[in-house]
Amino acid sequence: MITRLDAPLKVTGAAKYGADHIFPGMAYGYIVLSTIAHGEIESMDVSAAKDSPGVLAVYTPFDSLTLHTPSLPVFGETWVPLQDKEVTYYGQPIGFVVAETFEQARDAAALIEVTYRERPARTSLTEFLDTAEMAPPTFNGAPPEIEVLEDGVESFDAALAASPVVFEATYTTATQNHAAMEPHSAVAVWDDGELTVYSGNQASDMQAAELSIALGLAREAVRAVNPFVGGAFGGKGRTSTPAFLAAATARALGRPVKAALTREQVFTATAGRASTIQKLALGAEPDGTLVALRHDSWCHTDIARSFVEPTSHGTSREWYATKNLSITQRMVPLNVPPTTFMRAPGEAPGSFALESAIDELAEKLGMDPIELRVRNNSTAPPGHDLQWSSKHLDECFRIGADRFGWAHRPAGSRTDGDWLVGMGVATAVFPALRFPATVGITLRADETAVVATSGADPGTGLLTVLSLVGAESLDIPADRIEPRLGDSALPPGGMSGGSTATASAGTAIMLAATKAIDELVTLAADPGAPFAGRQVTYADGRVFADGESMTFGELLRAVGRETLEVTGTSAPGEEMTKHSFASWGAQFCEVRVHKWTREARVSRMLGVFDAGRIINDKAARSQLMGGMIWGVSAALHEGLEIEANGRLANGDFASYLLPVNADIPEVDVHFVEYPDTLHNAVGAKGLGEIGTVGMAAAVANAVYNATGIRVRHIPITIEDLL
Ligand code: MOS
Repeated sequence: MITRLDAPLKVTGAAKYGADHIFPGMAYGYIVLSTIAHGEIESMDVSAAKDSPGVLAVYTPFDSLTLHTPSLPVFGETWVPLQDKEVTYYGQPIGFVVAETFEQARDAAALIEVTYRERPARTSLTEFLDTAEMAPPTFNGAPPEIEVLEDGVESFDAALAASPVVFEATYTTATQNHAAMEPHSAVAVWDDGELTVYSGNQASDMQAAELSIALGLAREAVRAVNPFVGGAFGGKGRTSTPAFLAAATARALGRPVKAALTREQVFTATAGRASTIQKLALGAEPDGTLVALRHDSWCHTDIARSFVEPTSHGTSREWYATKNLSITQRMVPLNVPPTTFMRAPGEAPGSFALESAIDELAEKLGMDPIELRVRNNSTAPPGHDLQWSSKHLDECFRIGADRFGWAHRPAGSRTDGDWLVGMGVATAVFPALRFPATVGITLRADETAVVATSGADPGTGLLTVLSLVGAESLDIPADRIEPRLGDSALPPGGMSGGSTATASAGTAIMLAATKAIDELVTLAADPGAPFAGRQVTYADGRVFADGESMTFGELLRAVGRETLEVTGTSAPGEEMTKHSFASWGAQFCEVRVHKWTREARVSRMLGVFDAGRIINDKAARSQLMGGMIWGVSAALHEGLEIEANGRLANGDFASYLLPVNADIPEVDVHFVEYPDTLHNAVGAKGLGEIGTVGMAAAVANAVYNATGIRVRHIPITIEDLL
């Protein structure tokens, strides 16, 4: 089994993360946060802070650093700190103190006196639901309202009313914080007008692009290095406040600057997942065939409307076959910290609602919940003609049911000593996408090859994927590949987001390798070259002509070259007009609820996935395990409590619950492996996010099976099960 190449560095502490970089003369910054949720800053008295020992500078909206708002495709605008006096959430960055040491900066920051003109804050989704706005189209252009009606049907309501069996319910999900192990941080160094920033992020070239816009620099003047990334999953897509502030102050002060958020600051000075309210209406035939499906969603956003959690959209583009479909997606701007992409944005909370409702419908129909799901298996997204390129969801359920012992699931609860035991199931889906990516391959005279792309490995295993796909494409052993990643100076590799990186970079590697081999073959047959004028072929790292052969290194040396360099670029293309693409999964879970204490514990979990070709079994399994654990966390642990004044009541690791080892049993992950070469040449469909999809519903469905208590919100707590 191949272990991730960076694993030994990470577990021995040898991996250098952004904030681990230290430079001579480096100064340290501390970010000051607002203590109201809404209002205007009238004044900030920074005199005591400035006089404090070791302080070099204090920046505020009154004495700011110029930063321009970057705007990139897909992401849109990224907020830059300290540019105006308006406060729109509690914990918003409003100042930056730079000193000789971190402690001096922190202590000085505590001396700043802020006077606000406070205004009433909107902090509750339910309270302000009637002010909801229709969401804008999603990043890929899907409108906020979609209706598909069968021929001759007048309205969705008519279709629902005509359904023999109808089930309707409302579900809610909590606000979540990314809470990655590595707090957002950056070290910025200037050299002769050029900036290098060391900061964990999901796409080094996008980070460099955002920083260059913010600082008014040419793109070539900025280098972003993502050495290692301690967790990201959407939370480090955009450039962070520490990165903007470190870069701007390092220029102003003429010294390297480090800025890092404290753990508590991560909860407000970054961005998280919105809370949602979702209304489901399902109409079915007595045999379980869905005839009408409505999913109306509301989520909160910050006042800037940074990101809409598209819970309804998954239902419209991925889930079940139905002749009548109606979705709406609304948003409620609140005075709360920003919202952003978080692992399976939309599908994760959306599947909690839809897959709980399907479970409830199955009960109403007296059907097995797997049978109901398989019966409504779609061959294309609802209302669309483009068939799925590959879909083996029914096989995932079949294998899963067998492996998990689904047949032994009791109709009501089963007891084991003092524990009530139940089983739950849910479907997982996530769209298979890819983004444009360029990969450089350098063949070297010493028989090794560099495979390089800017991107990032936020812990997903992309570095290892580069070496494995590079090795097979060049037909040489993986230990002769030197993969390089996480540096905007490398060819632009797109981002580690949207479960796309393997498909995007992998396809580009294959194209680059083909080019490299073509050039080698031409080089070998050039006049004066060893196989001049002969028919040359390539295999196994060697060029062949008439039974003779030499390695590519020997060829390069023979023609007096150190290297041969090529790049390959890939982007989504014609395939998008021919098929629809998604990864699929069946999630199973066994939950035990204690008879007397009412605590709920997951005792077994299984995910069976159809994610196309698996490049590295261990890394793929780890991704899916992580996703499934995240789903358990959403179901039983995570949820931010926002006080009426906008302060987070549990914005720290003492009170924001996350599962620990004792909360998680063995996680069984199984693949049905059908390479999807209709999607891309590598055949991988993406698996970074799908692991979490469906898991929260599987837990809630198991809780119901164990206790008979249907909880329609997450997280599910002891109070819900009394
Ligand atoms: Mo992921 S939410 O696309 O980083």
